[in-house]
Parts: sequence; structure tokens; C-alpha cells
Amino acid sequence: MQIIETERLILRPFREGDAADLFAYLRAPTAPCFLSLKLSDLAQAEAEVRKRAVDEGSVAICLKETGQVIGDLFGGAGDEEEDGTASVGWHLNPQFGGRGYAFEAAKALFDHLFRVMGFRRLYAYVEDHNTPSQRLCEKLGMRREGVFIEFVSFTNDDAGNPIYENTMQYAILRREWMSGASAV
Ligand SMILES: CC(C)(COP(=O)(O)OP(=O)(O)OC[C@H]1O[C@@H](n2cnc3c(N)ncnc32)[C@H](O)[C@@H]1OP(=O)(O)O)[C@@H](O)C(=O)NCCC(=O)NCCS
Repeated sequence: MQIIETERLILRPFREGDAADLFAYLRAPTAPCFLSLKLSDLAQAEAEVRKRAVDEGSVAICLKETGQVIGDLFGGAGDEEEDGTASVGWHLNPQFGGRGYAFEAAKALFDHLFRVMGFRRLYAYVEDHNTPSQRLCEKLGMRREGVFIEFVSFTNDDAGNPIYENTMQYAILRREWMSGASAV
């Protein structure tokens, strides 16, 4: 993807040198949906950075001031996307949460996906207990379109039984975005 600049952030592809910053938050992902991305050491982080560097849909969120990678976004490069639809997602280093960085980054990504890439509809899956992510969807003007009960499992309980998640789907159409659906 092209490099995108916002007020406080640079959105760019991952590149060599990002491993330590990525490891800082993927050593212990907090959202169950990202548990499978957990990294054990820096060598794994370096391999993950190499993979992301060639993934068109993978975006590093960097602080303009320091260059530090503080999180990532994805969207717009899935193989299974149809009818101008793309899934989107976000993951911040918790140290940088609560400062509006995720919103600033996602807003710029949405603009890119709708205006430059020409997507018609963007959607996000969000677990029913993930209120920060639900709030972000709503600030972006996304509509909660449904809740899938016991939709997916990312972990097992102590007895080895899957813990199923109730998963919401949020979405927004290009025409809604263009007419200023974002809440901020
Ligand atoms: C979901 C996630 C990206 C949300 O991050 P976030 O920092 O809460 O989101 P935002 O960027 O919208 O920031 C919002 C907060 O910043 C505050 N803020 C502070 N300064 C701000 C500024 N300059 N501009 C805007 N908001 C600002 C807002 O008031 C808001 O606070 P509140 O949460 O107390 O209402 C983050 O929690 C995360 O990465 N979670 C783990 C991964 C995850 O769950 N991913 C989604 C899976 S579906």
C-alpha cells in the first residue's frame, strides 16, 4: 500500500527493523481473536514482519514523532473478498490505547480503501465483550448488522472444551462514508 500520513501517524507497509515493536504487543495479545498471532521471541517477530511486508493488506501504524510501530491495521487484501467487500481490523499496543490513535489510523485506512481502492463495503467482526473495538466501529460510522451466537472459538476452557464467542458484524458502505457517516 502507499504511505499515508495523518496528523500524528504514518501508515506504511511493515519493513525490516519493525520486529521489536511488533513483538512488544504480539508477545501477549489481549483479544482472543489475535491469540493465534502470539509470538514467543524476536526471531518469530522477524519472520512475522517479513510475512507482513509482502502482504498488501497489512499496515503498520507508526508514531510520526518517534517512528515507533504502535500497532497495525489490516484490510483490503483478503482472497475471499467478493462484490467490492473487504474485512478490516485493528490492533494497538495497549501502551498506546485511549489516545485516539486507532480511530485516526482506521479513518485514514477507510478513506484509502473507499476512495483509492474503490471498495464498496467494509466490515469488521467484533466479539460481544470487546467494547473498545465496538466503540471504534461506531465512531467510524459503522452499523452493527448482526450478532452471530457462538460463532467461533479461539480458546479452550480448563477441561479442553472450546469457548465459543458471540461475534458482531459491523459494516459501512462507501456511499455512507462519502456522505460523512463517521461520528467524529
Ligand atoms: C480496539 C482498539 C484498537 C481500540 O483502541 P482505542 O485506543 O480505545 O481506540 P481509539 O483510537 O478510538 O481511542 C479512543 C479513546 O481515546 C481517547 N482520546 C484521547 N485523546 C484523543 C484524541 N486526541 N483523539 C481522539 N480520541 C482521543 C478517547 O476519548 C477514547 O477514550 P475512551 O475509550 O475512554 O472513550 C484497542 O483496544 C486494541 O487494539 N485492542 C486489542 C485488539 C483488538 O481487540 N482488536 C479488535 C478485534 S475485533
